[in-house]
Amino acid sequence: MEPVGKITGSSTSSFVFSVDKEVRKFDYVCVEHHGLALAQIKEIKQSNAGTFAEAEVIGYENRKYMARTPFPVGSTVYLADEDTIRKIMGMPDDGLYIGLLKDTMMKVYLNPSILIQKHLCILAKSGSGKSYVMGVIIEEMIKKGIPVVVIDAHGEYVSLRRPNLDRQELRNAKKFGIKPKGYAKNVVEFSPLCSNNREAVPIFLDEINMSFQDILNLVPKATPLQKGILYEVFEEARKRRVYLLRDVIELIKDVKSNAKWNLLPQLEQIYSTNLFSPDYTPVEDIVKRGRCSIINLKGVPPYIQEILVAHLLSKLFDERRNENIPPFMIVIEEAHRYCPERGEGKSLASNIIKTIASEGRKFGLGLAILTQRPARVDKNVISQCNTHIILKTTNPNDIKAIVSGVEGLTTSASDEIQRLPIGTAILAGLPLAAPIFVEIRTRETMHGGRLQKI
Ligand SMILES: Nc1ncnc2c1ncn2[C@@H]1O[C@H](COP(=O)(O)OP(=O)(O)OP(=O)(O)O)[C@@H](O)[C@H]1O
Ligand SMILES: [Mg+2]
Repeated sequence: MEPVGKITGSSTSSFVFSVDKEVRKFDYVCVEHHGLALAQIKEIKQSNAGTFAEAEVIGYENRKYMARTPFPVGSTVYLADEDTIRKIMGMPDDGLYIGLLKDTMMKVYLNPSILIQKHLCILAKSGSGKSYVMGVIIEEMIKKGIPVVVIDAHGEYVSLRRPNLDRQELRNAKKFGIKPKGYAKNVVEFSPLCSNNREAVPIFLDEINMSFQDILNLVPKATPLQKGILYEVFEEARKRRVYLLRDVIELIKDVKSNAKWNLLPQLEQIYSTNLFSPDYTPVEDIVKRGRCSIINLKGVPPYIQEILVAHLLSKLFDERRNENIPPFMIVIEEAHRYCPERGEGKSLASNIIKTIASEGRKFGLGLAILTQRPARVDKNVISQCNTHIILKTTNPNDIKAIVSGVEGLTTSASDEIQRLPIGTAILAGLPLAAPIFVEIRTRETMHGGRLQKI
């Protein structure tokens, strides 16, 4: 390893060294101190006395070692080589390839099992590349055969079918070793509104023998009186071997209470959307090895989106719990809509998303949450995510939510988050010893976000 300077002052967790060779902020350096220690340059200062760099220790070759004496003054500081960085940082050497460690040619991989068991969260302001990096991760999941279900509010992900044709992006692709490729065979698009989305397969929800909670979910603003009616009707319907949503509606008509007159039109309206059917879409079609299912909600009225998301996620959760479908990942774009923080509105899907966030890991059901308003997403959901990808963010409240919700980020990270260039992300979470900067690789497939914005 190349020597770059000598320590002039130190503690047990950081040191300052006089710089002989050029080094840059965020470079990794190492020092012999009870085995090899890896540190990262946090600041470089220049004065008449020379150039001095401040480095913070990340970890030791011997992972169990904890320094109890300061780094000896006069020790030689070396620029860390790739093997040392990978080993001490705990960077996996295979898995989902998402990009390069900034300013190096070291490939950065995510461990798919950790993603599925411990969830992923992508936080950044609008236009900073959340959907782009999610697209990269989905490409990699498809290659590994791991099923993905995307709740796609804008129909951005259907372009995963087509190869990337963007000239500028392809110029960059060489550096990442990426060639354009489409995944038409793996991507299946479902939509409740197929007139808008021509290539989509219609999706229908199961209306056979719905539970009381399922029925209640259809009328989120039901008054206590209306809930009473629903319960009465549910008890009646349950006496039959098979009952459909239509039967529930018919039974409400027979109820004596006048409270039914407000309830009926709400349920009739949902029924008329044809979202529910006894001939429903089998979950095995949605979650299948090697398949990425996109639930395209473009143009679908918000209340129908909510019903669909809440019902679908509950069904998928149950089926995975019963091991009727393989381990998979659910991607939720615009998560602030579906699992808002208290006081930021309500969503029917909130409860099931919280349940998946806290219990999904037991069954191999992973969540990937994306939002441009981290401060508006339920904090419990964000804190359940182990892997965090952070891109440029400028809103102070959102930065605060990120720094407080993401392990390993210090307050000095807030400046860095504001200055991140497009295409560069901070990656934090297991098994990394500290957050790293990643240059996100070029997409193999076309990115749909841009098409939306034109
Ligand atoms: N890693 C990258 N490499 C090249 N271009 C990128 C990268 N990340 C983002 N971009 C560019 O930035 C644009 C915006 O990215 P993207 O659509 O992913 O933003 P977003 O964070 O999802 O925004 P929104 O919150 O509005 O959905 C893309 O159209 C693309 O041109
Ligand atoms: Mg987006």
